[in-house]
Amino acid sequence: MGKLDGKVAVVTGGNSGIGLGIASEFARQGARVVIFGRNGERLADALRTLGDQALAVQGDVTNLADLDRLFARTAERFGKLDVLVANAGIARPLPLEHIDESNFDLISGVNFKGAFFTVQRALAYLNDGASILLITSGTNRKGLPGFSVYAATKAALRSLARSFSTELAERGIRVNALSPGPIETPLFEKMGLPPETIEAFGETLTRQIPVGRFGKPQEMAKAALFLASEDASYVVGAELVADGGLTQV
Ligand SMILES: NC(=O)c1ccc[n+]([C@@H]2O[C@H](COP(=O)([O-])OP(=O)(O)OC[C@H]3O[C@@H](n4cnc5c(N)ncnc54)[C@H](OP(=O)(O)O)[C@@H]3O)[C@@H](O)[C@H]2O)c1
Repeated sequence: MGKLDGKVAVVTGGNSGIGLGIASEFARQGARVVIFGRNGERLADALRTLGDQALAVQGDVTNLADLDRLFARTAERFGKLDVLVANAGIARPLPLEHIDESNFDLISGVNFKGAFFTVQRALAYLNDGASILLITSGTNRKGLPGFSVYAATKAALRSLARSFSTELAERGIRVNALSPGPIETPLFEKMGLPPETIEAFGETLTRQIPVGRFGKPQEMAKAALFLASEDASYVVGAELVADGGLTQV
């Protein structure tokens, strides 16, 4: 018996990396899973790995009409939602003096506005007793040069987990955050940095992680499963840190 048997779960950014890891684990645990992202080819590839009980909806978390379509299509196909993972996110690191308005708007648009409205537009479609996860980051507690805007968006999500919890508790909806450490995903190659810079960055980070390695999407998926399932029935407004100890020791 799966921990999410009969449940309906939506994962934004479910076509890659951590989101795909979470969607796959949720499907294995019996959930009917809906993934959402912009890249149609990656959505189709992901859908093939998720199997018949999954649905892919193409769209952008910064576009409210796309979010409305995501939840309407989900409801049409599977009914109301039990688990929502606001996972879609991007990192485009730049030193403070080089951040222009478009970089600022891009990162905050996807990571903060996108996650905020993902939750807001889902409200009418969520079952009472549902579970919402916001994907934060260790950067919300540890300064990292070049990541000021990114880190601030993740601190904003940490805050939203608390505020949303107070507003949704009366419906029995639990809101929590999951804070991954450095995880092996395509996020790094999309940063717009030369490969050798990314490699050097990875090596420096690895030296700082007590377990001595990057994490894997599947490890994030196990932590997400805990928060999403009845195992976490008394966990509300929390941030579960799964980062090999990077920000903890
Ligand atoms: N990897 C890490 O080390 C790490 C550490 C801490 C936190 N995180 C967080 O974990 C989450 C997942 O990141 P990842 O590492 O798995 O990166 P990833 O492999 O690049 O996945 C990012 C996902 O977000 C989606 N996405 C990006 N912009 C979007 C938009 N405007 N609308 C809809 N979907 C969008 C992407 O799909 P499309 O491109 O198809 O839209 C993709 O599915 C992010 O929130 C990230 O900040 C990652």
